[in-house]
Amino acid sequence: MQVHVLTIFPEMFPGPLGAGIVERAQKAGLLDLNVHNIRDYAHDRHRTTDDTAYGGGPGMVMRPEPLFEAVESLDRPAGSPVVLLTPQGKLFTQREAERLSKEQTVTFICGRYEGVDERVRQHLATEELSIGDYVLTGGEIATMVIVEAVARLLPGALGHGDEALLDDTHTSRLVQYPQYTRPSDFQGAQVPDVLLTGDHAAIAKWRRRQSLQRTLERRPDLLKDAELSPEDRKVLQELGWTD
Ligand code: ADE
Repeated sequence: MQVHVLTIFPEMFPGPLGAGIVERAQKAGLLDLNVHNIRDYAHDRHRTTDDTAYGGGPGMVMRPEPLFEAVESLDRPAGSPVVLLTPQGKLFTQREAERLSKEQTVTFICGRYEGVDERVRQHLATEELSIGDYVLTGGEIATMVIVEAVARLLPGALGHGDEALLDDTHTSRLVQYPQYTRPSDFQGAQVPDVLLTGDHAAIAKWRRRQSLQRTLERRPDLLKDAELSPEDRKVLQELGWTD
């Protein structure tokens, strides 16, 4: 997957994308991260990328020309997504990560919080994404969050047959079951007996029940989109769920 990032702070990259699984994905050739300085596409003497707002008001607005020129200069397939990061965007979820992970090329435009000229929204970006209902000073960290979530979905990125993905909270549309490792007794806190039995069917059943229970307790909103078997529904009803 090829990723282009347009930013006025290229020094923020790769940042956290230069470590761990995302770094490995780049070394393995699964992810090609290209960071471009928007300032390189500004042609006035001071290489300005923003200006005051028409109509007045505080704060600066990102000018359209450097952004259009930057996107137009990229080697990217026509029609590939151009994502503008803004708090007004559609909420980024695991579904969006799965969708983007199937693209060959994705371009991210890191907006600054004060604003981006509306014509970038209308005629350059193909979509707008937000990572949550809070305001960051710019789209850079939001882009990193999205690239991180997408990169681990690329086939081969996790390095163990990608089966860990199936148990993720949100991939399964349920909250993950509790996990334990050694020691079986830690300061008197015991690992549940069933996990020590080696009985795979019993373990799978316990884990599913735990996932369902935790989802009901913590994120009941997820249950409406979860894939639930008749058995799951029975368990949830026993736990007091009323859908
Ligand atoms: N830029 C500023 N705040 C943002 C947010 N919450 N998500 C994405 N981009 C942003």
